[in-house]
Amino acid sequence: MTRKVLITSALPYVNNVPHLGNLIGATLSADVYARYCRSRGYEVAYVCGTDDHGTATETKALQEKVTPKQLCDKYAALHKQIYDWFNISFDVFGRTSDARHVPVTQHLYNKLNEHGLILEKDSEQLYSEADKMFLADRYVLGTCPKCNFKDARGDQCDACGALLSPTELINPRSALSGATPIMRTTRHLYLDLAALQPRLTQWLEDKQFSDNTMRTTKAWLERGLEPRAITRDLKWGVPVPRAGFEHKVFYVWFDAPIGYISMTGGLKTSDGKTGQAAIDYWWRDSKTQLYQFIGKDNIPFHSVIFPSVLLGSEEDWVTVSHINTTEFLNYEGTKFSKSRGIGLFGDNAMALEFSADAWRYYLLTNRPEQADTNFSWTDFQGKLNGELVANLGNLVNRTISFINQFFDGVIPASAVRDVDTAFLADAHNQIEKITHELEGVKLKDALHSVMRLSMLGNAFFQKHEPWKTRSENPSDCAATISTLANFLLDLAVVLEPFLPGTANAIAAQLGTTLPKWQSLTSADVAGSDVVGSGNGARSSLKAGHHVAKNEILFAKVEDARITELKARFGGAQEVTAVAKPALKSHAVPASKNAAPPVVISAADAWSAIELVVGKITSVERHPNADKLFVERVDLGSRGERTIVSGLAAHYETGGLLGKTIVIVANLAPAKLRGVVSEGMLLAAENSEGIVGVVETDAAPGTLVTFAGEPHGMPDGAAVTYDTFSAITLTQREDGLYCDENKVHAGTHGLRADKNVIGRVR
Ligand code: 2FM
Ligand code: ZN
Repeated sequence: MTRKVLITSALPYVNNVPHLGNLIGATLSADVYARYCRSRGYEVAYVCGTDDHGTATETKALQEKVTPKQLCDKYAALHKQIYDWFNISFDVFGRTSDARHVPVTQHLYNKLNEHGLILEKDSEQLYSEADKMFLADRYVLGTCPKCNFKDARGDQCDACGALLSPTELINPRSALSGATPIMRTTRHLYLDLAALQPRLTQWLEDKQFSDNTMRTTKAWLERGLEPRAITRDLKWGVPVPRAGFEHKVFYVWFDAPIGYISMTGGLKTSDGKTGQAAIDYWWRDSKTQLYQFIGKDNIPFHSVIFPSVLLGSEEDWVTVSHINTTEFLNYEGTKFSKSRGIGLFGDNAMALEFSADAWRYYLLTNRPEQADTNFSWTDFQGKLNGELVANLGNLVNRTISFINQFFDGVIPASAVRDVDTAFLADAHNQIEKITHELEGVKLKDALHSVMRLSMLGNAFFQKHEPWKTRSENPSDCAATISTLANFLLDLAVVLEPFLPGTANAIAAQLGTTLPKWQSLTSADVAGSDVVGSGNGARSSLKAGHHVAKNEILFAKVEDARITELKARFGGAQEVTAVAKPALKSHAVPASKNAAPPVVISAADAWSAIELVVGKITSVERHPNADKLFVERVDLGSRGERTIVSGLAAHYETGGLLGKTIVIVANLAPAKLRGVVSEGMLLAAENSEGIVGVVETDAAPGTLVTFAGEPHGMPDGAAVTYDTFSAITLTQREDGLYCDENKVHAGTHGLRADKNVIGRVR
């Protein structure tokens, strides 16, 4: 019996052009999971569409002098174009302004009403006679009662940040016409969430929501649910089927999630039916598992309000079992803003030279799973050049071009050696790991594991030196290449959910079509998350198979181009910590020697640098510099050091004392304001400038290394700060990384104090 998986991503507001943060926030994340499920052979429906209603649409239409419907037509097409370009594989992309949406919304309202869950209540609101409408909070402007800023909005003051209600503003005026609004009584419908709370609490018990989702949901329930208004004084929206409410519509957040249901009516069932039949097929079957992908500002609507609506209807609707919530992606340390011209929006990305997969890769490796993350052009360049070009692209190109160049494009006949079997078994274990990660919707981990798999391929190529064995031992060479070609096809399969264009291109270059994930699993485990024996034995591409022409998958991007892009999209801000005095101490003397820059590869740099665990045994203020501390650090069997660090702006002396940290132990000693520093303390800095030292549970003296890699075994010789800056160390949620490689201190991982996620210096 195969799984039946219904997947949704938050319905984007129609009147905005999605930016990179919106993409990773919901649509792209859901797409990866949907693609994986299809490849596993599950029955899948991925439903999305535009969220068309609400004040914002109505007002924007007024501004653009078109009807709301015309506005939606224009923007819905733009949305679809952008998602198509990014290869988002919706099974249906609908709209909440579709005629089918009205009866579904009204039906649920009627059910709630029948069960006594709808209340009526009067309230006072600001009404503009000039605009002939009640003004939504943010359409009231006025003077802030807290700071006297003249253009404060009715929901919040942009100058002092105070949260306001529109009636608190001094001299309120309509943002639309400038006219002075008056107070007027209006009557609205409320959903009685308080009455639904016990049912909801029980419902929540077996749910598998990401941590951030559960935290917010529990906080809502602990505060106690209260009746919530579900109608608004607007024209554009779903009409309310109740006497006295003819001139009102449902609140956009009441009808939007119901859009998931109504849009499903745009699918076809296996016997060709659409509409209600398709809705019932997916939403009224207890076998359906519903996975929803959203951004953190959408949590309560999906975990509290929408489930309450479905439970309150007392019909057997499918409710969500998995909610996967992302935090926010920032742009160069600040917020995306269309009006201020900051950030990269979907239409911008489409016009640049990078492929959809380059963006997908960048966004997925920076997916904000536990905390906000940051887009930076420098980081984009680093990931593109250092990971896609140097790791994945290189492996594919060197293997297929080798076959074309030396075997006339044909997979050679060869015997399977023990080393091939061992390698394919390793690869298979890694694929199993990826499968488990994807079953658990650990998208970022899974992509790291895919890149790790690619690294295994490169290491195999490197170790068996086909360019040498070609003349010295041709049968060895044939075996190596045949193994690698088969490996590449498996790699393409697990890459597909993330980078579908690239995965298909790899298969095409190998002269075949992309198989399904199912081909990697044994037939009898469909529906479970266990990967079976699979095709570890080089069975896909047999001797005599013709490959196609090799083509470059990813092109390197140069520094000059990145500088241009930064300037063009408003990314003036440098986000790496090196610009800050706090962590720059060693850079000062090193860069003063104005010698020509030495170009050193990251790999060479990593193996030259000695990172050692130490315990801080004393901390004092630097006698001659406010920003500096002088620490004594115990390195266990490696002795003691004096370290000068720029942490005084970020810590009290007592806050550092006793911490187990990591130092760069083989930097040439440098005198800083009269005190000799014998190393540098590692610290991470996030986009808000918060600095936290890198900590670990490993014993003092432990060397920090890559797991299983020959790197990170320095010979003890002193290095300069330039060597250190050739590597990219990043603190992620799950550990410290040097490029894509997680680093360890013995058996322990590393984390940054204050939970800082960011570049490490
Ligand atoms: O935040 C947003 O963009 C909303 N339009 C999401 C709606 S999700 C769903 F409930 F429709
Ligand atoms: Zn203010």
